[in-house]
Amino acid sequence: MILVTGGLGYIGSHTVVELLEEGFEVLVVDDLSNSSLDVLKGIERACGKRPLFECLSLSNRISVKTLFHKYLDIQGIIHFAASKAVGESVSKPLAYYDNNLTSLLFFLQEMEVHNLSIPLIFSSSCTVYGEPDTLPITEQAPIKKATSPYGNTKQIGEEIIWDTLKSNEKLSAIILRYFNPIGAHDSLEIGELPIGIPQNLVPFITQTAVGLRDKLIVFGDDYPTRDGTCIRDYIHVVDLAKAHLIALQRLMAHKNEDRYEVFNLGTGKGNSVLEVIKCFERVSGMKLNYGIGPRREGDVVAAYADVSKANELLKWNAILSLDDAMASAWEWEQKIRTNN
Ligand code: UD1
Repeated sequence: MILVTGGLGYIGSHTVVELLEEGFEVLVVDDLSNSSLDVLKGIERACGKRPLFECLSLSNRISVKTLFHKYLDIQGIIHFAASKAVGESVSKPLAYYDNNLTSLLFFLQEMEVHNLSIPLIFSSSCTVYGEPDTLPITEQAPIKKATSPYGNTKQIGEEIIWDTLKSNEKLSAIILRYFNPIGAHDSLEIGELPIGIPQNLVPFITQTAVGLRDKLIVFGDDYPTRDGTCIRDYIHVVDLAKAHLIALQRLMAHKNEDRYEVFNLGTGKGNSVLEVIKCFERVSGMKLNYGIGPRREGDVVAAYADVSKANELLKWNAILSLDDAMASAWEWEQKIRTNN
């Protein structure tokens, strides 16, 4: 059985589908703080299988203890559960440190208590690289001081795992640093469900197109890039989910070269904000209402991944294109608005 924390979230739910399709028994733990039970039904409709589900908060020590007492056959953990709104983390730093780090500490402690030697996959972010010195970004690029408590929880999470592994030879972990996940499952049963006003580019685009938002503001067009707007590496969430399965299987089969491995997960290609808007207009056949506004604080100019390590060692690469991802994001948006 594979424990997937935050398994009803955006990347978590897509990963659960990949695991179930591969034949794994899956236990999803989610506190529903940023998701809903509809996602559980969506997972089932997407793949015809239902994971086990426990609704609990991993930042409650008693709940975590109970969980590890109840399920004795956990063979691997994929840890997604975390709060992820950058702006909110600035106004509520303690809530972010508490939620994102105590959950990790509690289950690592339970793994020690139960003497478990099971693999761990940790959901990290390219945000740890900050403004990179060189592009594309390799895993060797220096970690920069985090610009938000959210980003800091990812850095500290990585360090907690590193230190724990140094002290416990039974444990192995893979840290996956995501670039910008977008898109939805091709079944259109699961996808991104931002609560409130989306902070990320693609859901803001699709919500604008569907009439939920008036206008997209492009945050700055005076950056030193080919068209003045920021560049990111947008990866289809299904490609990203598949990488989790491969990483888990690598650890379960003891094919890892180190007990602590880090992989960038992106497409290796950078696209500007204006290119992403053009992509949307191309796949939807619509004109998007957008305008140029000031820069957003904390944005890096350009970030895209060097994915050669994941290509070579995981034999993984992103297959789906930006157009594929955008088309699925757009279909998903239209579907959820029609249903609600
Ligand atoms: C953001 C977070 C990052 C987090 C990631 C999770 C910030 C500064 N960074 O990354 O820490 O790991 O989300 O998915 O919040 N844009 C617009 N208009 C919009 C929204 C976005 O122009 O309304 C631009 C941004 O300036 C950026 C690009 O679109 O250049 C992508 O933005 P976003 O989707 O928020 O991702 P990141 O900023 O890369």
